[in-house]
Amino acid sequence: MDFNLSREHQLVRKMMAEFTENEVKPIAAETDKTSQYPRENIEKLFNLGVMGMCVPKEYGGAGADPLASAICIEELSKQCASTGDIVATHNGLCCDPIITHGTEAQKAKYLPMLTKGHKVGAFCLTESDAGSDAAKGQTEAKLDGDHYVLNGSKIFITNGYVADVFVVFAMTDKSKGTRGISAFIVESSFPGFSVGKHEEKMGLHGSPTAEIVFTDCIVPKENLLGQEGKGFKIAMQTLDGGRIGIAAQALGIAEGAMEEAMAYTKGRVQFGKPISKFQNTQFTFADMAMRSEAGRLLTYQAAVLKGEGKRFTKEAAMAKLFCSEHAMLTTTKALQMFGGYGYTKDYPLERMMRDAKITEIYEGTSEIQRVVISGNIGL
Ligand code: CAA
Repeated sequence: MDFNLSREHQLVRKMMAEFTENEVKPIAAETDKTSQYPRENIEKLFNLGVMGMCVPKEYGGAGADPLASAICIEELSKQCASTGDIVATHNGLCCDPIITHGTEAQKAKYLPMLTKGHKVGAFCLTESDAGSDAAKGQTEAKLDGDHYVLNGSKIFITNGYVADVFVVFAMTDKSKGTRGISAFIVESSFPGFSVGKHEEKMGLHGSPTAEIVFTDCIVPKENLLGQEGKGFKIAMQTLDGGRIGIAAQALGIAEGAMEEAMAYTKGRVQFGKPISKFQNTQFTFADMAMRSEAGRLLTYQAAVLKGEGKRFTKEAAMAKLFCSEHAMLTTTKALQMFGGYGYTKDYPLERMMRDAKITEIYEGTSEIQRVVISGNIGL
């Protein structure tokens, strides 16, 4: 067992750390304040090959493995969790199911668009009455000659109002429950596709979240992803991979908060010495460092298992659960070290704490992760 990162993975981390320091950090506060999608940085991430980095080279990607993608999301999220989220969704929830389940024609058409073509991807599963109970979605797809007609709406869609390509789940046979759900590749230009409400959120202000509405939306028959009735499994498998991305995002948020707090406490003098010299501060940092190490091991383990083509459902759920709770705890404790300053927008801690909260909710709440873990430990 080798716990060292390969040279390639170390280079990926170095490249992304530099990008984060030079391009992401300077605009992170403004992105949060203005709720602006960080378009220029996403374009640069396309140019660097990070958007769609796991897409095989023959389809325009970098042919990177899931660990490399996780490292990128972790580094970006140290300074801007919104940017990490946009990349995680594009790579894990849109490119990945097309790589895994797409036909040769689908891969040849859509993967180059999602890499060299700079088109952003999204994933549409959640509905107003189908959140944790994802199988209860009401969006329907009816076959009509050479196309399907989709009707319904999806909510909380990350990249919703900037994406061009959507992996969408809809019922093709309501009588069959989870086995009546199918997956489709839908373009925003298809007739009957529209973007509904833009969400105003507590955090992740740079990550565009929207409702997606299908009104007699015409989807060519050849855009069925995988077989009819296999959509729920595709959704679950995709979310297994997506949860590695959210674990990496949460880990990055925690690491970023800890870095900020360490720098601050070394310079903040109270009672005659830097507050980093008080044992209470040091013990808090010791716990944070230990939890980051544990979260990193869980996350990288899940990513390596995915890269090896092994089952990683339980490991991804554990990584996401652990890292998201770590992010929430760490941002809270780090903010506390700043005292009143931490509660202001002069420092990034209040943003990091707001951003951390969503990692306990989306791509399966912490409760759902416990359902998945308990269902996979032989009970
Ligand atoms: N991999 C492969 N197959 C899986 C699987 C997995 N990880 N998990 C379940 N399945 C299969 C089962 O084997 C079963 O197959 P059979 O029909 O052959 O028996 C089928 O799927 C149904 O499984 P369950 O009976 O376990 O399904 P369930 O209805 O009880 O739901 C659940 C299970 C884990 C609770 C699931 O509903 C779930 O993960 N819920 C959370 C959904 C979620 O994370 N939503 C966030 C989406 S993100 C989004 O939409 C917006 C965005 O942009 C971020």
